Amino acid sequence: MNEMTLATLWGGLEAEASRLRQRTLRDLFEADANRFATHSYRLDDLLIDFSKEKLDMGAWAALLRLAHAKGVEARRDAIFAGDPVNETEGRAVFHVALRGGAGPEACAEGEPVMGAVEAELDRFLTFAEAVRTGAYASTNGKRFTDVVNIGIGGSDLGPAMACRALKPDADGPKLHFISNVDSAHATDVLEGLDPTTTLIIVASKTFTTLETMTNANAARDWLAEAIGDAAGAHIAAVSSNVEGAGEFGVAPDRVFVFWDWVGGRYSIWSAIGLPLAIAIGADDFRAFLKGAADMDDHFRTTPMAENLPVLLALAGIWRRNMLKCQTVALIPYDQRLEFFAAYIQQLDMESNGKSTRLDESAPRGSTGPVIWGEPGTNSQHSFFQHLHQGTDVIPVDFLVARHSREDLGDHHALLMANCLAQSRALAFGRTGEEAAAGMRRKGMDEADIDRLTAHRTFPGDRPSTTIVYDRLDPYALGRLIALFEHKVFVQGAIWGVNSYDQWGVELGKDLAVTLIPMVRDGAKAEGIDGSTAGLLAELRR
Ligand code: F6P
Repeated sequence: MNEMTLATLWGGLEAEASRLRQRTLRDLFEADANRFATHSYRLDDLLIDFSKEKLDMGAWAALLRLAHAKGVEARRDAIFAGDPVNETEGRAVFHVALRGGAGPEACAEGEPVMGAVEAELDRFLTFAEAVRTGAYASTNGKRFTDVVNIGIGGSDLGPAMACRALKPDADGPKLHFISNVDSAHATDVLEGLDPTTTLIIVASKTFTTLETMTNANAARDWLAEAIGDAAGAHIAAVSSNVEGAGEFGVAPDRVFVFWDWVGGRYSIWSAIGLPLAIAIGADDFRAFLKGAADMDDHFRTTPMAENLPVLLALAGIWRRNMLKCQTVALIPYDQRLEFFAAYIQQLDMESNGKSTRLDESAPRGSTGPVIWGEPGTNSQHSFFQHLHQGTDVIPVDFLVARHSREDLGDHHALLMANCLAQSRALAFGRTGEEAAAGMRRKGMDEADIDRLTAHRTFPGDRPSTTIVYDRLDPYALGRLIALFEHKVFVQGAIWGVNSYDQWGVELGKDLAVTLIPMVRDGAKAEGIDGSTAGLLAELRR
């Protein structure tokens, strides 16, 4: 694709954006009362409503032209073919194979993988079931009551988020997570657990991550203090570095592997999902994989104009590059998705927070936004003020289930009503006249109405997307995660960045290594700047 054609396509988008800048969401709905029908898309029970985005058919068409021109389909096909699309690390990006999404003949860089994938899946699910039933018991012969996963980033966020999300399905031992190298984290988690019935999983792709290895050593000491030499039987490992796990002392039959072509933040489908499998069991874990595989199928085979991850990505490109929004709020009206924003934050920001393109050039405009969020309705009582009346426009992705997993009277109706109310308020706001009329109806005097009208006016015209699903079960969660994974991929392809490396985390790691002896041992502070030297001296006081 030559630069001139691309410039024309981006120019076409700009033209659509400047046309739409003259129109509000109120205008768009007045012009087309059927916007919901024309701007929402379905895959079975999953529905995505884009009608409250500041987009119309002309803008969608321009976005789709850009996606075609950027070769999104060819790049998608390369992913599913197991090609080494992670060019800076020289690897395939093949997490789709872990859920069968690349078919039974899947090959990574020409090598068939499904034999190994299925064998390892069977191995770790068998182990998960053994822990659940007590067939693999603690050294005192009792069933494990608690399992602690020690990992960070992709080796923590996925299982922690999913175990929380699928609480109603979690009928196995209780799961706990330690990630931070702050001693408070390990202390608070281990405190109150009984080492004689606790299983530790050390999860690290590299098995070298400072935080994880530090916590793993502490947990091993904690076990050893209580059960001595038997501690080893209470430890399992998940890694691509089998040797490293062996050196740490984990017996080979409890080391579960995954491969180089599985990125950390895409690894929940691999043995990194072991804690989830222990919590919910093998059948539910397979349902979780199936949800993702069905989304893979949809993504691989559906024309771009009806393809959910593609459309979600394009709405995001519009927000970021045309509306110039720097952040996106991800608000699940689903309490059990309370860690979903944190999980998608890593997925999205570690993937597309880049300012060098694959061809080494700088991107034409902005790349990945800041992703953040908390569940509704709690967030309505904290930061929604800013979303409604702040000076910046912050688009929102709402997530909501048609049905809750339990029936507690009115709760779910109230939750859904609140979700709908927020996207309405964001989109349509409240004019000064409407605010004044509302106050008049309440019998307020005119002086107060004059004084308060501006404060009680909502600008509206703030975009949001709403994602609806039947209920949050293993299948729905798997499908939802895969939806976001593919969205991130499409955006990366359009921005031209490598969504699968993470060089940006390396500098801080390197600097920490040089600082450790200065902080811990008082080594001479050499080669550091004045500010850091000052802070170091303060912290060592
Ligand atoms: O520091 C970033 C990172 O490399 C993430 O990409 C990864 O998920 C996390 O650290 C943990 O890495 P590991 O699984 O190798 O311990």
